[in-house]
Amino acid sequence: MHINSFNLRTVLLLIMVLLMPAISLIAQKKDGKTIYPGAVWPDNRGNPIQAHGGGIIRLGSTYYWFGEYRAKDNPPGYRYVGCYSSKDLVNWTFLKRIQFSDPENLGAGWVLERPKVYYNEKTKKFVMYMHLDDRSYKFARVGVAVSDKVDGDYQFVKSFRPLGLESRDIGQFIDDDGSCYLIFESRPTRGFYIARLSDDYLDVAEQTCFISAPLEGGAIVQYNGLYYAIGSAMTGWNPNPNKFATAESLKGPWSEFTNIAPPEKNTYGSQSTMLIKVTGSKDTTVIFMGDQWKPSTQWDSRYLWMPVEIGDGKLRLPEPKPWKLNIKTGEVKIENN
Ligand code: GAL
Repeated sequence: MHINSFNLRTVLLLIMVLLMPAISLIAQKKDGKTIYPGAVWPDNRGNPIQAHGGGIIRLGSTYYWFGEYRAKDNPPGYRYVGCYSSKDLVNWTFLKRIQFSDPENLGAGWVLERPKVYYNEKTKKFVMYMHLDDRSYKFARVGVAVSDKVDGDYQFVKSFRPLGLESRDIGQFIDDDGSCYLIFESRPTRGFYIARLSDDYLDVAEQTCFISAPLEGGAIVQYNGLYYAIGSAMTGWNPNPNKFATAESLKGPWSEFTNIAPPEKNTYGSQSTMLIKVTGSKDTTVIFMGDQWKPSTQWDSRYLWMPVEIGDGKLRLPEPKPWKLNIKTGEVKIENN
């Protein structure tokens, strides 16, 4: 076939269009400043970050992200927690794939989900909470594991039911005064609990509040003296309209829950996991950290991180768009196309 210059141009154009996704991924890596909600998020090795249903702590100027490490090539039988570090919440360095073997004889298909790590200043231990379950989600307990190092081999300590109650999805909240709380969903009482951790963080010390709303994926942030709680409806891996409520005290009373985005968007295909507050020199930004689950290809589940519009008792998750965060000033720039 004779290829004239017109045909050649068409072919080249077609190749470019086909390569666009790859080109935008490269751009994502090169720029190193932009968060692309829902895109593959590579770590420093170029591998997709594996930290689903995660939690984040900040120690000094370093953030640590822990979450379910669901890589396709995980050896069978074990469950893994990914541990990554970052100075800017955009570029993440892989530190460790923390290995756990079935600690409570839960059997094939056992579940380790939504790990959260707290650092205890007094004991100098890193304390990990996790949702532990059997394949039918009847065990409904939290597991606790500890390590001397943030990216160490976490040793399993015990499992228990916080406040004696069934516990499935867990969330992590650390208030501005440093107090640490576990949020957990309790199916029989239809709602979620906020429980303050004991001094050594190995247990819960007391019930801070019971929020009577059948929600999971519980996340809390304190913004300008007001507490905002977010949760998702209980539809398993499928997204639903996530909702928020506010309270002047963690103990409540809490307002009614209302949608954080137009309900038909189903939280843009994501489920709440955590709210991260970045207090900079010029602005305070709250980031909605959600999971876009892919139940049949879990290793490819994505993250939806977006700054929320928050204040005066209102909270809105805007339509996801690429955005930049200045970790020093706390300012955010959303790309408007
Ligand atoms: C979701 C929950 C996930 C996982 C899933 C299993 O509702 O948030 O963490 O447990 O159900 O179906």
